Amino acid sequence: MSSAKFVYEGKEIDLPVITGSMGEVGVDISKLRSSTGAITMDLGYGNTGSCQSEIAFIDGEKGVLLYRGYPIEEMVGASFLDISYMLIYGQLPSQDQLTKFRKDLDRHQLIPENMKKILEGYPNTAHPMAILSSMVSSLSAYHPDTPEEVENNIVRLMAKLPTICAFSYKQSVGQPHIYPRSDLTFAGNFLHMMFATPCEPYQVDPVLEEALNMLLILHADHEQNCSTSTVRMVGSSGANLFASIAAGVCALWGPLHGGANQEVIEMLEMIQDDGANYQKYVDMAKDKKSGFRLFGFGHRVYKNFDPRARILKVQADKVLERLGINDPLLEIAQALEEVALKDSYFVERSLYPNVDFYSGIIYRAMGIPTNMFTVMFALGRLPGWIAQWRELHNESSKRICRPRQIYTGEPKRAFVPLDQR
Ligand code: ACO
Repeated sequence: MSSAKFVYEGKEIDLPVITGSMGEVGVDISKLRSSTGAITMDLGYGNTGSCQSEIAFIDGEKGVLLYRGYPIEEMVGASFLDISYMLIYGQLPSQDQLTKFRKDLDRHQLIPENMKKILEGYPNTAHPMAILSSMVSSLSAYHPDTPEEVENNIVRLMAKLPTICAFSYKQSVGQPHIYPRSDLTFAGNFLHMMFATPCEPYQVDPVLEEALNMLLILHADHEQNCSTSTVRMVGSSGANLFASIAAGVCALWGPLHGGANQEVIEMLEMIQDDGANYQKYVDMAKDKKSGFRLFGFGHRVYKNFDPRARILKVQADKVLERLGINDPLLEIAQALEEVALKDSYFVERSLYPNVDFYSGIIYRAMGIPTNMFTVMFALGRLPGWIAQWRELHNESSKRICRPRQIYTGEPKRAFVPLDQR
């Protein structure tokens, strides 16, 4: 095993070097503080490996994304449940394993009827992500957190999340909840629960079903991003699956993470209302004083095209054409991308479109309202979160996540009682 040397105030220590299966190198600093008294500082953890994982691999320089070794481009035609099984349980399922997985999910799709009372308590102005995070957390009140139930709870969560997501939407538009149907695909059933009403039969449009299935697969995992790290951080304390994933939902909500897909559409609408003046918005994004960022651009890991964005750009065109929709926002997005990719500010900082840049345009064409976009992201990311939580849960050598800090406050001083201040 190779090692790296760390020299500090005359002390020199050897630090082991860990190499991953795709050649990534990590210097193991776990003995650094006990040997030298020093810790590392890494704001935003851009250089910090928090775990060893077998689930996903990203090469940000080359624009590569693999789920358990399989390239993202080769998986988009599979079914979301096939990919979910592979992410969670580690290998591609046989036909029998997939059929059993599907049947297990079918049995658990309903949410406890009592939970509907919680839903009904929300104002219909509530953001669906607020509802989603608390409903996922509430599942731990209904399902015991015992070692024997861990695997069942994984199936329960996979099965119930689409129902919760769709029910929260129905709640927000004041329509009756539509119950799940086991004869439909994962994507088809979700569309049915979102858009059917008790008044008339609902036919799932195969174009929408296919597009949703692809979007879910593209979002299914992305190694140690903000929400996944949150799931692992919370899970490291021994918190149950539902509590850990509810925390991940909250982390995803932020506009710098999954909330960006909603922000992209709102930004494109703003540009449209402002006469489609792309250059003005590119200039604003370059001006730090404006506080404006080009949403859907840039990524902590990708310094090249996000491979998911590459797929979505092509698919956005295709899906809109198949649906016969002419959305001016797609043209604005394409023009904005062209202007930004030629601009030295974006080129020098390697800022390319990310997964959120084109996903919202497809969701919009599917009739999904903007404030549901991040919920759609969460639905897709669920198998990844579960896989990451399960990997952590099954580790024999897991430790609670507990970073250190460099304190910059007042040095030690005498406390002043209230009557002497
Ligand atoms: N528009 C304008 N400038 C940007 C953008 C952007 N979208 N993104 C990064 N920059 C600039 C920064 O101002 C910084 O410039 P500087 O070096 O002159 O200070 C430089 O590029 C590096 O940016 P950081 O913020 O340091 O990069 P970081 O890795 O911390 O952030 C992030 C990544 C959060 C994705 C960022 O690019 C961003 O805010 N993008 C817009 C939001 C977005 O689309 N988020 C979705 C990400 S994908 C996902 O979560 C699914």
